[in-house]
Amino acid sequence: MTSSRVVRRVRFDFTAARSDQWAFPRAFLTLMLNGFTVLGPIVEPFLCREMKAALPRIQDEELRRRARHLIAQEHTHERAHEDAWALFQRTGHSLDLLLRATRWLVDDLVDRVVREVANPRLRGLLGLSAVAGAEHWIATLTVTARHLFIPRWLNHPMVDLLAWHGMEEMEHRAVAFDVYRHLGGGEGLRRLGLLLSTVFFVLLTAMSMTWLLAQRPLRSLLLAPLILVDMLCFLFVVDWMAFRWTVALLRYLHPGFHPSRFSDQGFWADFVSRRVEGVVPLDVHPT
Ligand SMILES: [Fe+2]
Ligand SMILES: [Fe+2]
Repeated sequence: MTSSRVVRRVRFDFTAARSDQWAFPRAFLTLMLNGFTVLGPIVEPFLCREMKAALPRIQDEELRRRARHLIAQEHTHERAHEDAWALFQRTGHSLDLLLRATRWLVDDLVDRVVREVANPRLRGLLGLSAVAGAEHWIATLTVTARHLFIPRWLNHPMVDLLAWHGMEEMEHRAVAFDVYRHLGGGEGLRRLGLLLSTVFFVLLTAMSMTWLLAQRPLRSLLLAPLILVDMLCFLFVVDWMAFRWTVALLRYLHPGFHPSRFSDQGFWADFVSRRVEGVVPLDVHPT
């Protein structure tokens, strides 16, 4: 399995973006993706940390290069999502408390729990299995969101940011999984990793969405019916996400699963090449 080894520096200008309701009237979808966006700079460093810790144990040179490529891409995602914070701050959201709480959960609590695992090899594999699980969810969201990226939403930097991020997630979607397997990770721990990442994904996103709503109570109250209807459409009626995500979950649990089987790389590469200007390729083999 190979991937294109490009790390791109892309800047998205959120200073001129007028509203955080960039996919209106898809109010729930907007809220959910805004919630992910806010959390990017909290979650991406965790993925990088676990992958960096695994690097010295990777015996295969090609796989080590792919792992470095993932780390370099995730670092650029972290910075690009941090730029998006400006939009929320300008539209009246204070993110400080949310960021402090989520940082505590991801950095302190997870770290403390992982340190409880006495066996260092098992500790490393547990972290990697959680990273592989998180990468599976990010890739799943990218693949299942494809039909939502339609032209009438265009001309908002959030669309470009998410499309570029999704494209790179497609490029490195199998790396954490392959590293986990290379280091001898088994099926049971792999499934536990998915469970842990699912719980954290849901918890952190719910926290982020609730916080964004709580910051603008009057507007949130007005939007509430639209959010509710859109949530039902998104999960069960129009987009069938509850069904698609259940399938993704079951696929990952299957012993023969490999992330490279599910790809949407071509669509996203094409979307980004038409939409995002100033994509600057960085070091081809990041160290
Ligand atoms: Fe990422
Ligand atoms: Fe990733």
